[in-house]
Amino acid sequence: MTDLPTRRIPGCPFDPPAGLADRPAVGRHVFPDGHEGWLVTAYEPARQVLADPRFSVRAELRHSALPRPNVRPSGAGGTAAPGWFGGMDPPAHSRYRRLLAGRFTVQRMRRLEPRIAEITADCLDAMAEAGPPADLVQAYALPVPSLVICELLGVPYDEHAFFQERTSVALDLAASEAQATTAVGELAGYLGDLVRRHRARPGDDLLGGLVTGSDLTDEELTNIALTLLVAGHETTANMLALGAFALLRHPDRLDDFRRDPSLTETAVEELLRYLSILHLGAPSRAALEDVEVGGELVRAGETVVLALPVVNRDPGRFPDPGALRLDRAEARQHLAFGHGVHQCLGQQLARIEMRIGFRALFGRFPGLRLAVPPEEVPLRESALVYGVWRLPVTW
Ligand code: HEM
Repeated sequence: MTDLPTRRIPGCPFDPPAGLADRPAVGRHVFPDGHEGWLVTAYEPARQVLADPRFSVRAELRHSALPRPNVRPSGAGGTAAPGWFGGMDPPAHSRYRRLLAGRFTVQRMRRLEPRIAEITADCLDAMAEAGPPADLVQAYALPVPSLVICELLGVPYDEHAFFQERTSVALDLAASEAQATTAVGELAGYLGDLVRRHRARPGDDLLGGLVTGSDLTDEELTNIALTLLVAGHETTANMLALGAFALLRHPDRLDDFRRDPSLTETAVEELLRYLSILHLGAPSRAALEDVEVGGELVRAGETVVLALPVVNRDPGRFPDPGALRLDRAEARQHLAFGHGVHQCLGQQLARIEMRIGFRALFGRFPGLRLAVPPEEVPLRESALVYGVWRLPVTW
């Protein structure tokens, strides 16, 4: 029973944080506030927790597995603020999810493919024009999903520095709780303004559609926009950068990927599984009543945190789990997008961005390689979303 480990084994930037792998499938875990809850490291119990309505996502019922609570807009008694649906249980959650699900379907996301291809090509053109070396995070991995979510939502991209910086602070545990609170407050203020602009002149985008096509209040719309903006760019950005790093460190696998376009879909699923970028303290749930999980009795009121990087390397589900195998048939069963009613709303979008993003990057720069020794690539050890701070590349 120790704190959630945050340091990786030196030299293994793609492996789960050190100390997680030898934990029991469902074991006692002491949270930073002293709460004695549970840590789940095996696949079946993790899926069970995410699917079982006797486990709540409400932050006011959960103990944080992080050194500081994840800052969020909250209402009375720490309950989720209106529109902050990721922190609500059904039926409150279902109302928002129903409103949004239709806007994130596979078909809707497929329609964005040509525009996403254009965005990736523009970023790669700019990178080629500036010449090597480049920081792949700033030149490509961050702008691609940021531009996409901005266009989808109706957020002007020329204001991207403002929201990227604040999102980064909000999701970095090295920032104090006060700094994170300020960052989230400023983001909410900015998005509140944007919602009012959409009320005056609705755009042809998601926010514009919600302003005209629903009875959501300004506060709800602001918090929905905040959820999508924060969830929608750092996650995919880190998958793109860390995924590129992983492929560059596995040259034979990268050769296979380049040669065989039919590998694209499973390669993306395998990278999601192998890298499982949500490392610290998420997802977690609070038991609403006593529930048996993996042979252990979780008591009402106790918090369960899932160690997704280890769950997604459960040898019972993924044979030879530590190997990156781009043609792994069972890769798609990973829980990197969660499971159950809160399963990632943006997963189809993220998949398309990664499929197009990796193909375009390695197609455009066949000679792409690291510009520094791999051990000099700075890892996001303190961030809620794992990845790399910078990825210096040349070609
Ligand atoms: C590779 C990229 C991504 C990863 C790994 C990821 C991962 C996750 C996970 C694990 C959850 C479930 C959390 C829980 O059960 O507590 C989640 C939920 C969510 N994600 Fe993602 N996500 C990604 C990209 C995106 C994108 C691009 C968007 C938006 C366009 C997005 C929007 C959301 C939202 C709104 C939720 C909350 C859903 C709900 O509570 O109903 N995500 N994501």
